Amino acid sequence: MSMPHRAIHRVENAEALDKVAEPVSSVVQRAVQPKPIRDLLSGTNLGHPLHPSLTDVAIGAWSMAGLLDMVGGSEAEPFTELMTAAGVAAAVPTALTGFNDWADTLGAERRVGLVHAGLNTVALALYAASLVASRGGGRRKGKALRFAGLTAMGISAYLGGHMSFAQGVNVNRTAWQEGPDDWTPVLAASELAEGEHRTADADGVRVLLYRTATEVHAIAATCSHMGGPLGEGTIENGCVICPWHDSTFRLADGGIERGPASSPQPSYEARIQNGRIEVRVPPPGAQSDMAKEGAHRRGRRLLSRASAS
Ligand code: FES
Repeated sequence: MSMPHRAIHRVENAEALDKVAEPVSSVVQRAVQPKPIRDLLSGTNLGHPLHPSLTDVAIGAWSMAGLLDMVGGSEAEPFTELMTAAGVAAAVPTALTGFNDWADTLGAERRVGLVHAGLNTVALALYAASLVASRGGGRRKGKALRFAGLTAMGISAYLGGHMSFAQGVNVNRTAWQEGPDDWTPVLAASELAEGEHRTADADGVRVLLYRTATEVHAIAATCSHMGGPLGEGTIENGCVICPWHDSTFRLADGGIERGPASSPQPSYEARIQNGRIEVRVPPPGAQSDMAKEGAHRRGRRLLSRASAS
C-alpha cells in the first residue's frame, strides 16, 4: 500500500472523528432543509453537483497566485493579491456547497470529508491572512502564508479527489444501469393494485413500479443521489420521496422535484400485456429528454465495449 493510501486508510478508520462529524452534520442538515437552499447547493437544476465546479475557481485562483509567487517577481504582486482575493471569495460558496454534500455522507466518507473541510478552512484562513500581511507591507510574510495555504489546499484537493473517484461520493448511482430494450415481463398485473408501488427485477435492473387508474409507471429503484432504496420511499402527488435524504422524483418520467439528487431517475415504458406487467427502455423516438440522456450514456458504453473487443 502506498503512503497516501496508508494515510487515507487511517483517516477512513478514525472513528474518533465521528464525535465531531455527527453534531456538525446534524446542524448542516437542518440549515439546508428549505427546498430552494437544498436545490441550489446540491446543483439539482444544474444536472450534476455544484461543488466540483466551484472548487475549480478557488483552486485555479490560488494555484495562479502560487505560480506568480514563483516566477512573477515584485511587479506581479498586485496580480498575486488579486488571485488570492478571488480564491478567498470563491472559497465561501465552495465551502457551503461542500458542507451540503458532506452532510449526506456517513462512515469513512464522512471522516475523509471532515478532514477535507478542515484543511480547506485552514487554507482559507492562511490565504486571508496573507492578504492582510501583503497589504500591510509584509511581502515575505504574505508569500510564506500563501505557500502554507497552497500546501493545505493541495492535500485537501487530494482528499476531495479520493472522495469522488475512490469512494464514489455524489456519483450518479444509476449511471451504469441499462434495462431491457425489449418488452420484458416483471410482475403479474394482479400483484400490483391501483395506488400501490413495488419493486421488481427487469433484466438485472431494479425498477420501481407504480400503478394508477390508467397506467403503470416504472423508474429505476436505486436513488441516483446515493443509492437509497426508492421502493421504501413515500409516494406523494405522483412522486416518490427517497427515504434517505428526501430527494423527490416524478414517477411518470423520473424527473427531479426536489434535491439533493442532481441526476434524474432513468424511466422505463411499462404496459400490462396478457395479465403481466412488462417494461422496456423507451425506443429512441419515444424518449423524453431525460431518457435520451441515459440512452446517450448507454450508447457510449456500447461503443467503448465494441472498440475494446
Ligand atoms: S440516497 Fe440521498 S436522496 Fe436518495
